[in-house]
Amino acid sequence: MLESINEFFKPVVAEHSVAVAVTLSVIGLTVVVLRVRRVNLRRDGMDYKGTAADVLKIMKNSDFEAHKDKDVHSSVSEYASLFTGARASVGRISTDASIKTRQANYQKLVTNFYDLVTDFYEYGWGQSFHFGPRWQGESFVESIKRAEYHLCSRLGLKPGMRVLDMGCGVGGPMRNMAIFSGAKIDGITINEYQVSIGNKYNAQRGLADQCQARQGDFQNLPWPANSFDAAFAVEATCHSPDKRMCFSEAFRVLKPGGLFGNYEWIVTDKFDASNPEHTRIKEGIEVGNGLPTLATAEQVLAAVRAAGFEVLDAYDANADVHSPHQIPWYEPLTGKLSWSGFRMTWLGRIMTHAFVTVLEAARIAPTGTGKISGILNATAIDLVEGGKAEIFTPSFFFVARKPDL
Ligand SMILES: C[S@@+](CC[C@H](N)C(=O)[O-])C[C@H]1O[C@@H](n2cnc3c(N)ncnc32)[C@H](O)[C@@H]1O
Repeated sequence: MLESINEFFKPVVAEHSVAVAVTLSVIGLTVVVLRVRRVNLRRDGMDYKGTAADVLKIMKNSDFEAHKDKDVHSSVSEYASLFTGARASVGRISTDASIKTRQANYQKLVTNFYDLVTDFYEYGWGQSFHFGPRWQGESFVESIKRAEYHLCSRLGLKPGMRVLDMGCGVGGPMRNMAIFSGAKIDGITINEYQVSIGNKYNAQRGLADQCQARQGDFQNLPWPANSFDAAFAVEATCHSPDKRMCFSEAFRVLKPGGLFGNYEWIVTDKFDASNPEHTRIKEGIEVGNGLPTLATAEQVLAAVRAAGFEVLDAYDANADVHSPHQIPWYEPLTGKLSWSGFRMTWLGRIMTHAFVTVLEAARIAPTGTGKISGILNATAIDLVEGGKAEIFTPSFFFVARKPDL
């Protein structure tokens, strides 16, 4: 832990000594308060207001308290073992053997990953765990919702339809899309903790009859054939160990003529596997996000077609990421300071990391929590680098159709 403190603090202490001293005092005081106080989250979407201190709410809310009995330290170690050699030596986790190990262990990999990061994601990003193209003048939240409403429009969602969300997280997209379209949405996530939080949010927002999350694997969906009018996935099937099998499941549960829309994480045509810098960034994204390996657009579309779908449209929604009219999808992760999004910035992340590390030392946060925050900090940099170089996009969009009988 001391190593991790050093690593993150050396440059900060040198340049921002007053800010660091103030932060540490605040941390010390809040730790004392926290040891006796439990925080009740309202789960109305307003719990995290954008300050680094909100991390306290994660550590002391009743859901986290129950969930943290899981051995976080072992989950981190188990997770790390699936990425042996990552970051230490470029190319080590791109070997067939390394990828196969993660593909074979995907359930453990993804479940552990989301046990570890779900609260951090929610605190840092909100209830929708995805990126989106953003126009100048558009707020972060508007851009996230626009990506979701875009899906609604491309899938023609409307009242009376039954829709599947594959890899629903804590259900941010599911709820926004249900409110927008009037459709009923079933979500599935492999992570039990997300199900319990997601369904609390559904009830809290008056959507319990319209939105339902359940635990399960999108490689083997627990619904009979022809159950849904439409299906979608938002930045989730990047975790699939076998996209053809995953998309075949979407195909099976869709009614004939049903549409499947997806935002996929891919490496773009600019990615060059023989360029060590590109491979370093790609591997950093994989280890920091619980991915077996990143695919190309061609590989994704080949899997969609192999599953039986007709591809109606496919493009990178971030193709114009560096147009003067757009704000890059990765911008919230860069160092630019904005008070509303402070916790996502470089300094905000450092302060969060400091907080978590101290909370761990004070035994408020479980052992290993500091490592998680470190993993997320490191991969934020990879995502920004991948986005800047345009070798990676989280928003490769496609819409595909299950042919009529
Ligand atoms: C980046 S999150 C996106 C969540 C959600 N779509 C959103 O945008 O807020 C990826 C999600 O995929 C889920 N997931 C990954 N692999 C899965 C699998 N094999 N079966 C079901 N869900 C899975 C994770 O549990 C997580 O909820």
